[in-house]
Amino acid sequence: MNLVFIKKSSLIGLLIALSFFISACGANMFDQPKFQVNEASPYFANQSSNRELIAGTVSRERGALDSSFLTGQDDNGMLSELPVTLTKELLLRGQERFNIYCAPCHNYTATGDGIIVQKGMPQPTSFLEPRLVAAPVGYYYGAMTNGFGRMFSYASRIQPEDRWAISAYIKALQFSQRANLEDIPAEFRSNFKGASE
Ligand code: HEC
Repeated sequence: MNLVFIKKSSLIGLLIALSFFISACGANMFDQPKFQVNEASPYFANQSSNRELIAGTVSRERGALDSSFLTGQDDNGMLSELPVTLTKELLLRGQERFNIYCAPCHNYTATGDGIIVQKGMPQPTSFLEPRLVAAPVGYYYGAMTNGFGRMFSYASRIQPEDRWAISAYIKALQFSQRANLEDIPAEFRSNFKGASE
């Protein structure tokens, strides 16, 4: 009898302890004290919670060794050549990303009258205008990286590799929208509507 009582009470005690443990644990993990970026701290000699990098630290990001890859420009200005290898995969990736991130405003053929513009957003210049056709590939990378006028920067949303893929695709898109039948390899010409061959 006594034994059963002890068992019951210890079971209840265990459950109570467990529920305290679970609830306390959840709250603490969610709401633990931590420094916010740039917060002051009396703990460090310079009163800043930001710690300086240890001397000799090297970023694993590619741009640490190749800044033009990250910025879209070198000492001669905006890059006119891609700093990555041009492949079909790169263009297909660029097409996919362009259609997701840029087409809502710039439209699928980059004419600047995408669905958001049709709903009242300011209209960007068509990428088929001579000024923008002549713009080097680094110009598009730079606009995405730094933003352009009323257009916000995409640096935090699109990784550098994808920004280059989109830039390469824009150049291909400009070419495709202005191409003549003679620009298409002979064996594919008959695929196009109105082709004479
Ligand atoms: C929400 C709408 C919107 C989206 C999405 C958008 N843009 Fe823009 N973009 C604009 C507007 C508006 C301008 C013109 C801004 C101005 O002149 O103040 C512009 C300007 C530009 C320019 C400069 C054109 C010039 O006249 O020199 C480039 C290049 C560009 N965008 C590229 C892109 C790329 C690449 C993407 C996708 C990663 C993108 N934009 C996504 C609205 C957008």
